[in-house]
Amino acid sequence: MTDTKKSIHGEWSSRSAFILAATGSAVGLGNIWKFPYITGENGGGAFVMVYLLCVALIGIPIMIAETMLGRRGRENPVHTMQVLSVEAGADNNWRYLGWLGMVAGLLILSYYSVIAGWASAYVFKAFSGSFFAADVTAIEQLFRDFIGSPMQLIFWHTLFMAATLLIVARGVGNGLEKSVRFLMPALFVLLALLLIYAMTTSGYFQGIHFLFSLDFSKLSGNAILIAMGQAFFSLGLGMGCVMVYGAYLPKDISIAKASILIAAVDTLVALLAGIIIFPIVFTHGLNPGSGPGLIFETLPIAFGTMTGGWLFGVLFFVILVFAALSSAIALIEPTVAWLVESRGMSRERACLQSGLVTWLLGFVTIFSFNVWADFKIFGLTLFDLLDYVTANLMLPIGGLAIAVFAGWKMKRQHSEQELGLPNPHYQIWQFLIKYIAPAAVFLVFLDVVGVL
Ligand code: PFF
Repeated sequence: MTDTKKSIHGEWSSRSAFILAATGSAVGLGNIWKFPYITGENGGGAFVMVYLLCVALIGIPIMIAETMLGRRGRENPVHTMQVLSVEAGADNNWRYLGWLGMVAGLLILSYYSVIAGWASAYVFKAFSGSFFAADVTAIEQLFRDFIGSPMQLIFWHTLFMAATLLIVARGVGNGLEKSVRFLMPALFVLLALLLIYAMTTSGYFQGIHFLFSLDFSKLSGNAILIAMGQAFFSLGLGMGCVMVYGAYLPKDISIAKASILIAAVDTLVALLAGIIIFPIVFTHGLNPGSGPGLIFETLPIAFGTMTGGWLFGVLFFVILVFAALSSAIALIEPTVAWLVESRGMSRERACLQSGLVTWLLGFVTIFSFNVWADFKIFGLTLFDLLDYVTANLMLPIGGLAIAVFAGWKMKRQHSEQELGLPNPHYQIWQFLIKYIAPAAVFLVFLDVVGVL
């Protein structure tokens, strides 16, 4: 591998372009939709604490490692792992790590697109004034009626998938980069406005207390696994997507600095979403553990009653859709890159094929909210099961493998050269990636299967 090797898909035009795109991939439904509802389901503060520890001790080191592998390999995850295992003198089977990631990405996208479809539908509900002066029961009914209708969910899922594929088909520079440039700043402005609203509600302190007070009696082994899975999901780790974005990264950019910045922004957005949503939940006597519908049943209440709520409601859901889009394009990019590089397909065709598979898979999630709602495996609906297996099992396993490869298999001189970190920073990263991250993932797995 030479230092001048570049990806055939091109490169990010600058450091800020990479940071924006990677932040766009990290910040998405995971922060605004998923983080609050799983925090609500898992009891609040102690769960948040474990989540933050997972981001700092496991997430950031693995993000650095995954970006580094991508930039050194410069290809899709399967080829990158193949090339790097040859370079490291390691087993050729490491390429299966790339496969695991691609499959996880498509599975996640299949339900991600359905939920993003909900957000798209809510743009129109907000626009048409459906939330105006509506009470809690009316808002809950609106949501129930909506997810009870397969046709509506199929329509919005299809629209969202089509938008994703259109952007991805246009390629790295035109599609991915341009779409995130204005998104992140807009998202922050809106969250700040909603934060001001949340601070004026009577349930503000109760919400804050729920999010930050530590009650470890509410924390099960499974909750720790969910917190860890969420760290992987939210940072977009363990599935080759960070690897692919790393492959488009110019040589002179500091991977460690960029990763820490991206993780910090991602975490801030998740915490902000929690600080906004829980005060509304408590002000209106709602149940914080109500599940995936949480933001769709709480925020409309706020929009329906606050001054300027119509405008904020429309803007909020528009931005949520955009945040979801910039993540969705990252979820499908590893597969598209692989189809182009190893099957010689055009980018358009690769998008069409992988998009079709994902779109069809999305029906499983759609039906699990209505016609198959009572069909459960291990007490979970098909959507919950898909989410559990991908986020809590596949991503941590992918992350564990990345940590082992980067820490134990790759030659030290190569990782040193790629990261360009002065000591002791390099040594801290080495320690975390070699011992702490793999041990933590492993221990959580042992705990969940009941060995501990
Ligand atoms: N990080 C995204 C979110 O929090 O919504 C979801 C995601 C994107 C997961 C990209 C995985 C990924 F590769």
